[in-house]
Amino acid sequence: MTPADAGPARDLLNFYAEAGVDVALDEAPANRFADASLEVVAPASTPPAARLRADPAPAMPAAAPAAPPPPEEAIMAARAAAKSAASLEALREIMNAFEGCALRTTAKQLVFGDGSPDARLMFVGEAPGSEEDQTGIPFVGKSGQLLDKMLAAIGIARSEVYIANIVPWRPPGNRDPAIHETQICLPFIQRQIELVDPELLVCLGKPSMVTLLGVTDGIKRARGRWFSYKTDARDIRAMPVFHPAYLLRNPIEKRFAWRDFLAIKKALGK
Ligand code: URA
Repeated sequence: MTPADAGPARDLLNFYAEAGVDVALDEAPANRFADASLEVVAPASTPPAARLRADPAPAMPAAAPAAPPPPEEAIMAARAAAKSAASLEALREIMNAFEGCALRTTAKQLVFGDGSPDARLMFVGEAPGSEEDQTGIPFVGKSGQLLDKMLAAIGIARSEVYIANIVPWRPPGNRDPAIHETQICLPFIQRQIELVDPELLVCLGKPSMVTLLGVTDGIKRARGRWFSYKTDARDIRAMPVFHPAYLLRNPIEKRFAWRDFLAIKKALGK
């Protein structure tokens, strides 16, 4: 590639990434025009533009996935579905079958949750990223590795805690979840928290804090403070902390996260 080609190629890659096309399916790009099975057999009278169609009698395109219902309807459906889950496994199945959130159509799979269902400590992040989408497990990428290290630093193994996200499907291109997507998914994470029923809930980052605790202060003001997360059955002590992705970008702030994790350790009586 010449330097002159690099600019347009970069623009095209950026366009793909923003559209959510960020995974290569093959080692090398496939030249579909060179595929013999797609030879042009249009009659000579066919106008040139139409002759670009490879198959003179193309098969009917696969039916497009049904459009998701309007957000209000999807929120109601999510509430009813989440309420009906008597266990984490039942909730996972219900969410897997739920068609009310369009994110499921672009995500590779549901990223439900990870860790001990009897955990005393539960973490909730915002939404899965690329590695989580590939594996179906929350917080396994760089942020997750930092979270594991922070836990280890206070003597807690990842397998002892429970980890989930507000939104369980990866938004395309890692964009922020839209408000209606968050609201549609909210009943599911609320039920997941009820079913795990941890002693302490930790919101990883501002979106999780705002959504679960209704705290609208900046995360810099609110982190490290104890709030109350209300379930139908009881109040759970909850603390917002910096999201590990933020700490990776701003390592100087790790000293505050260290303080917060020590407070969490103390609250667990460890
Ligand atoms: N960030 C999140 O908020 N959740 C994940 O699962 C991974 C990264």
